[in-house]
Amino acid sequence: MEKIIDGKKLSLKLKEHIKNRSEDLYKLTGKRPKLTVIMVGNNQASKVYVSNKEKSCNEVGIHSNVLHYDNIDTDKLIEIIKELNEDKDVNGILVQLPLSSNIDEKKVIEAIDPIKDVDGFHPYNTGKLWINGDPYFYPCTPYGIYKLLIENNVEISGKNAVIIGRSNIVGKPIASILLKNDATVTICHSKTSDLSSYTLKADILIAAVGKPYFVKKDMVKEGAVVIDVGINRIIEDGKNKIVGDVDYNDVFDKVSKITPVPGGVGPMTIAVLLENTLKAFMIQNNIK
Ligand code: GUN
Repeated sequence: MEKIIDGKKLSLKLKEHIKNRSEDLYKLTGKRPKLTVIMVGNNQASKVYVSNKEKSCNEVGIHSNVLHYDNIDTDKLIEIIKELNEDKDVNGILVQLPLSSNIDEKKVIEAIDPIKDVDGFHPYNTGKLWINGDPYFYPCTPYGIYKLLIENNVEISGKNAVIIGRSNIVGKPIASILLKNDATVTICHSKTSDLSSYTLKADILIAAVGKPYFVKKDMVKEGAVVIDVGINRIIEDGKNKIVGDVDYNDVFDKVSKITPVPGGVGPMTIAVLLENTLKAFMIQNNIK
């Protein structure tokens, strides 16, 4: 069985499917789904993510535009979001995080109409995710991870899943999805004492800490499935590199499956965003 979980390959397959579906919908309605991305400030990583999102939308026949603000306050941003909520041509609204420190992130996310919240970050969608597992939209990275596990025949039910990281974007929602699928879930974080005592029990280990090469062989159970959510920009041997939260070469012989960085979770996040935008279009146009 293939040891490397290939996120690039699965994302291309999903994108092909989304492209075909979006063409069918265009024939049916004469309209295309549209995603509006809001970006505030000049975070270099965010700029790359946002431009990748735009590029991917174009590839699958989804319209997209980016509203970029250098200087804006919470009230003005909420006003803009309310206008987008009312705009029938806009199906998905995504506010790229992090926002600049003067902006109240919670209020901004709560201003998005849940039916356009393609990130799945609005409390309505988060609450539905935890209670019934039926939000309008699943958060992109966690749902991408779930798809990778399913596609690669990783059994979830009854397994010990350990997540390192408790963010609203990854740690908490992936916990919810795995719990819904009958895993025994542990969320570890920066204040967890004796982290290895948890990670060594993990049949499925998800690293979302944001620290390069954080997970080493002595933290991993023999035969574990390791999912690396890290996207860390580092300079190594004089070269700019993107590396994960897992020391891939160190753990490789010990694990049964692992996602590479790049080419693992990253491309899946975008594929799910496209899927969510298509779903938003369908819901808003009453298409089953
Ligand atoms: N910043 C890092 N990841 C994400 C994401 O999935 N969505 C948004 N909106 N911002 C992010």
